[in-house]
Amino acid sequence: MDILIRNIRMVDEMKDMRGDIYIKDGKIEDYGKDLPYNCTTIEGNGLVALPSFIDMHVHFREPGYTYKEDIYTGSRAALKGGYTLVNLMGNTDPICSNMDVVNHVLNRSAELDLIDIHQTVSITKNFDGRTLDHLDDLDRRVKFISDDGRGVQSNYIMYKAMIKADELDLTIIAHEEDREIVKEDTRLSENLMTFRDIYLSKLTGARLHLAHVSTKEAIEGIRKAKKDGINVTCEVTPHHIALYDNDYKVNPPIRSVDDVRAIILGIVDGTVDVIATDHAPHSEEDKRKGAPGISGIETAFSICYTTLVKLGQIPLTRLSQLMSGTPGRLMGANKGRIDKGYDGDIVIVDLNKEIEIDCDKFVSKGKNTPFNGKKFYGEVVATIRKGEIKYDGGITVDNR
Ligand code: DOR
Repeated sequence: MDILIRNIRMVDEMKDMRGDIYIKDGKIEDYGKDLPYNCTTIEGNGLVALPSFIDMHVHFREPGYTYKEDIYTGSRAALKGGYTLVNLMGNTDPICSNMDVVNHVLNRSAELDLIDIHQTVSITKNFDGRTLDHLDDLDRRVKFISDDGRGVQSNYIMYKAMIKADELDLTIIAHEEDREIVKEDTRLSENLMTFRDIYLSKLTGARLHLAHVSTKEAIEGIRKAKKDGINVTCEVTPHHIALYDNDYKVNPPIRSVDDVRAIILGIVDGTVDVIATDHAPHSEEDKRKGAPGISGIETAFSICYTTLVKLGQIPLTRLSQLMSGTPGRLMGANKGRIDKGYDGDIVIVDLNKEIEIDCDKFVSKGKNTPFNGKKFYGEVVATIRKGEIKYDGGITVDNR
């Protein structure tokens, strides 16, 4: 099957131009002005095509917590948010510490054929904080390890984990939280662990990706680490960009306006590599009992577009780099750019459309969001994966 997106503004990390995009056999075959192909056509007038988004930090809760989310509902929520590739965290039940759980997730994802999924494996076996032997049994499809939601508390074990990760060519995604200190000081808890892991990465050479960075001190530390040539990358979330002084329960917590300023400066100067949602759906009851997290994959683009691009902090090309280009590279995917040979994964957005977030309309099972009722610009109107329209929010298709 082939498809032509006609007369659209196309934007990725390298370009911002007007023209057509032709996708053939799942890949971008051509792009440019007035392409001559005669096939199913999407009229792009007034809309913008970006490489579909790639989310390095997502919780789909399967296996074990499928009352909060499952791979089907999560994948559909991802498509509605403009995403076609996500990286799932391993804090499921059972915790993802072996290839059985990885295979379950990847098989289910292949069966659904909605989006592409990578499954992260825990750094320590079953999050026990000590055991690393299971890492020797992973196959090459596993690229990331993380004790997300918890963090590795022992300095010694994290040191050993980094040595092993380097040997096995795995990237550590670090959830930076000292679980003793956090009870008194969430900022110190995040900062200490961040500085520890940057130092360990420097010592061991291990690739370190810092998850959901939220403090100005951590941003400053990462900036310096990069200058020193340390193998570190980081992500920030839409909620840590758009909110401050807000007590909605999420981990790490929403910080102060100075932290938001530091994060945005980090986005502007290249310290921040990636925007990831930390999509963390919960049931109403779990949320009432204090579960931390935000169901964020359906709202990420509008929030980031409005806060960063519409308010003039960065151009749309840079947002595309943060949401598609760099996460695509870090995940080793053939996605994240509008260029010949890349997967035909495109999101079409209407930047002029004002939307009001209504959690009752979420496709995700998790309705937990601090943004309910808030207005933003930028609506996802279609998500295409490998040339197939997987989400249609109201585009005009001409099936010639
Ligand atoms: O708020 C959060 N929720 N932060 C995390 O690190 C974990 C996540 C979850 O799994 O609910």
